[in-house]
Amino acid sequence: MLDSFEFYCPTKIEFGQHSVDKMKDYIEALGIKNPIVVTDKVLIQIPAIKEAIEKIKNVTIFDEVLPNPTSDLVMKLKKFVEDHKGDGLVVFGGGSPIDSAKGAAVLAYTPHDVKEYYDSAENKLPIKQALPIIAVPTTAGTGSEVSKYSVITDEETNLKESITSDLIIPKVAIIDPLLTVGMPPSVTVSTGLDALSHALESLVSTIENPLTNIMAIHAIELILDNLNLARIDGENIKARSNMSFAALLAGMAMSHCCGTIGHAMGCQLTSQYSIPHGLACAVIQKNALDYVGDKGKNIKLLVDYLDKSDNTIGEAISKMKDKLDKLFIQLETKMDLSDYDMKSEEIEKMTKDAMQHGCMGLNPVKLEKETVKDLFESLK
Ligand SMILES: [Fe+2]
Repeated sequence: MLDSFEFYCPTKIEFGQHSVDKMKDYIEALGIKNPIVVTDKVLIQIPAIKEAIEKIKNVTIFDEVLPNPTSDLVMKLKKFVEDHKGDGLVVFGGGSPIDSAKGAAVLAYTPHDVKEYYDSAENKLPIKQALPIIAVPTTAGTGSEVSKYSVITDEETNLKESITSDLIIPKVAIIDPLLTVGMPPSVTVSTGLDALSHALESLVSTIENPLTNIMAIHAIELILDNLNLARIDGENIKARSNMSFAALLAGMAMSHCCGTIGHAMGCQLTSQYSIPHGLACAVIQKNALDYVGDKGKNIKLLVDYLDKSDNTIGEAISKMKDKLDKLFIQLETKMDLSDYDMKSEEIEKMTKDAMQHGCMGLNPVKLEKETVKDLFESLK
């Protein structure tokens, strides 16, 4: 019998090649009169994006987003929105522009600082309103276009903080796989591995449900079959389209299930060594399969489906580890961090911070500090 569950996705999803052409209609439908485009200086040079922005009436552009957006950047964007009387945000980008826009959407026209809305803030302010967001992903991985999370690096502590609210879920996600064609192979791999991590972690999260499991399982199948194709032939539209769909499915699952140790540890690796987010989370996934407890039943569901076979939970976990090894070999990507000089004191700090990360509490097996430290050590 199925367990009870809830599912909420208020985002209008417009998926398909050339779907970006419908941008104007959505801006009008949302009643946005002064749209602020949020993006970065690289993306704004891409002809397809440039062309889409040129079609937006009365547009003002903020193109100063950097990877792993900081609290200062979000405050700068808040001020920019206010100075230009923005009443809606149109975001072109991967996770960084979308997360920056979500933060600014909450802060605009309030006297508050971003820190007051962090999930970790002692007297966290309630989020009562946010400007509408239209998200146009240019990568296939983050899932931020359908999620209620914004991840921001605090300028003072260098910790990855989050803001969570149903009100910051984009009103519209325009997912046009053609916009991902220009992604270089390294970004294709890292963002694709982010989607893989979202799906795997959703599947074993303590708050998984039957609907998110279907999304996660299909996302993993699509990623195993298409990520390397998208890497070696960026113009393979079928592979790009399948990866965009996989990222959407994994993002919807992640928005409900949050993450587990992959993101709890991966976020520390990104803060400490600037390892791309998706890669940082993905290198944990194989060892994380040793700590799935009773959620091993979902790994069995996954592998039985992928292989059209009937496995014990132990066999399924072992086969999934083999599939991850195979994928990393295909991607010519190391599943360790031996290229980084990880020092004991850094591992100590990352362990402490990972233990406090919101995703850690959703891991199906409660991990001791020593185990997490050993997991970091195993990447050396
Ligand atoms: Fe992620």
